[in-house]
Amino acid sequence: MFLLSLSCFNLHKYIHSPINPQKSHIYHHSPMRFKLFILCALLILFSTHTFCTTLDLELFKEAPKFYNSPTCATIGSHLNNHTCSIEAVHVAMTLDVSYIRGSMAAILSVLQHSSCPENIVFHFITASSKPSSTTVLNRTITNSFPYLKFQIYPFHDGPVAGLISTSIRSALDCPLNYARTYLAELLPFCITRVVYLDSDLILVDDIAKLAATPLRPDTVLAAPEYCGANFSAYFTPSFWSNPSLSLTFANRNACYFNTGVMVIDLRRWRAGDYTTMIREWMELQKRMRIYELGSLPPFLLVFAGRITPVDHRWNQHGLGGDNFRGLCRDLHPGPVSLLHWSGKGKPWARLDANRPCPLDALWAPYDLLKTSFTFEV
Ligand SMILES: *[C@@H]1O[C@H](CO)[C@@H](O)[C@H](O)[C@H]1NC(C)=O
Ligand SMILES: *[C@@H]1O[C@H](CO)[C@@H](O)[C@H](O)[C@H]1NC(C)=O
Ligand SMILES: *[C@@H]1O[C@H](CO)[C@@H](O)[C@H](O)[C@H]1NC(C)=O
Repeated sequence: MFLLSLSCFNLHKYIHSPINPQKSHIYHHSPMRFKLFILCALLILFSTHTFCTTLDLELFKEAPKFYNSPTCATIGSHLNNHTCSIEAVHVAMTLDVSYIRGSMAAILSVLQHSSCPENIVFHFITASSKPSSTTVLNRTITNSFPYLKFQIYPFHDGPVAGLISTSIRSALDCPLNYARTYLAELLPFCITRVVYLDSDLILVDDIAKLAATPLRPDTVLAAPEYCGANFSAYFTPSFWSNPSLSLTFANRNACYFNTGVMVIDLRRWRAGDYTTMIREWMELQKRMRIYELGSLPPFLLVFAGRITPVDHRWNQHGLGGDNFRGLCRDLHPGPVSLLHWSGKGKPWARLDANRPCPLDALWAPYDLLKTSFTFEV
């Protein structure tokens, strides 16, 4: 249903100009355009008409306003610009039209479980190759979260698209997936620490606790580590059989970690120029296949065994099911602060299809999408 709305949105651009009376000459001069118009009109007629016309802003409900508790610090403001506040919790996420429903739920969950929600500043990365999407996303966020402190940074995704090799799930190859590698360059230099979050997760705990994770002096990022996972499976036999490449992890207690939830020290990242290191691994991957998945393995190559471990409660990942069949997964043992639907299935898609996994019920309360059953009160 949501994919449909996407195509409808793109069609709108074509439909508007021929309909405009001042531009009706297009009919005569451009038969191709006219055919396109007919095609679009037919498509619209055969699809859910009301859904298409309301795409722009009516799609999502407005979230309530969340207030700081009395003990919260006041975040310093330079002429009402919170971008550089030290007291603020800075959160980076990507925004994409096809994942916006997940992002909206994630934002809502962050605010709802925060004791100082007004001290959270969001930094959203969009694809600069799609400026019209950036405009719609900007308006969508503003409409649903009128009080949110946020900035949008269009990410120049062209160069990174050329670096991506196809992996088992094409969704992983979307250039925006690689934006997390460029946060140190995209965000203003005054920001020294950021929590990066994927769009397919919800928090059920205060993000300030995660953001305050003390990083060990020799580490650039903090994330939950999973040393029980079969680390060698993330790289190809040609990687392990290459004498110099296989030494990459020598003298490192390298463990898998999920890059969907990370606390990043941007100052140390910039000082070590880790963006270049990751890009070099991606360039090597273009020449010889050293891994299968998308944006994760370059992070493992650079950081595995060199991160500050965070309690597993902060990334209960894999709830999307396995990559091949999308089977339901259960939580890992232990407490839960963040639920992450990484993997093939997404809770909104399974809920829409009436085939939810049991844990998808925990995502549903954060869904801001207006359904036909939602009435304004
Ligand atoms: C806020 O400050 C940051 C960093 O100095 C700057 O990049 C940004 O443009 C400022 N925003 C506004 C709205 O002035
Ligand atoms: C988002 O919208 C705000 C307010 O309408 C505007 O000032 C800002 O430049 C927009 N950002 C982008 C990246 O389009
Ligand atoms: C780990 O994965 C590799 C490569 O897929 C495989 O050869 C190996 O048997 C696995 N080890 C364990 C303990 O499962």
